[in-house]
Amino acid sequence: MNILTISGSSRTGSFNTMLLGALPALAPAHTFTHMDYSALPLFSQDLENPFPESATSLKDQIKAADAIIIATPEYNRSIPASLSNLLDWTSRPYGQGAWIGKKVLVMGATPAPTGTVLAQAELRKILLYLDARVMGQPEIYLSSVYEKFTTEGELTDEGTKQHLSKALELLASS
Ligand code: FNR
Repeated sequence: MNILTISGSSRTGSFNTMLLGALPALAPAHTFTHMDYSALPLFSQDLENPFPESATSLKDQIKAADAIIIATPEYNRSIPASLSNLLDWTSRPYGQGAWIGKKVLVMGATPAPTGTVLAQAELRKILLYLDARVMGQPEIYLSSVYEKFTTEGELTDEGTKQHLSKALELLASS
C-alpha cells in the first residue's frame, strides 16, 4: 500500500510528526511518503483562478495514495490553521476535491492528558463532509507524550506501538 502521511504541525521536534515517523518500522511492507505543504498560500477564493500549482500537486498526492494517515495536534480545542488551510485548498474547486472516497486514518499527539480528542472530532467532521472514508476505529489518542518519546524523537512506549501496529493492519484490510 502507498500511504501518504500528513502532520498538522510543521514545528521542529513535533510529536505528531515523530508519531508518523514511527509508522514505517511498524509496517515495513508498506511505502510511506510524508507530505510537505509548507509552500501553500493562505487560502482565498481570489487565488483560485488560476488554481495554484502548489495546491494541484498536493491534490495529486492525495489522489495517488491508497490510504492517508493524518496526525494532528490540538490547537485551542480544534485543528491548527495550517491543516485547515490544507483541507480547504485540497477540497477545491467545489465538487472536485481530492478526498472523495479516500481511506483516512486519523490520530493525534499532545503533552496534555486529553489526547487531542476534540481536534480529532473536528478533523473527522471535515473529512466526512469532504466524502473521505474516515475510519471510525481504531481511535488513536496519544496523551502525555513526553513520557512516550526519547529526546531524539524515538517512540518507546510499547503499548502505543502495539496499538499503532494493529491500526495499520486494520487500515490495510479495510
Ligand atoms: C496548544 N496545545 C494544546 N494542547 C491540547 O491538548 N489542547 C489544546 O487545545 C491546545 N491548544 C494549543 C494552542 C496553541 C496555539 C498551541 C501552540 C498549542 C499544546 C500542543 O498540544 C503542543 O504544543 C503540542 O506539542 C503540539 O503538537 P506538535 O507540534 O508537538 O506536533
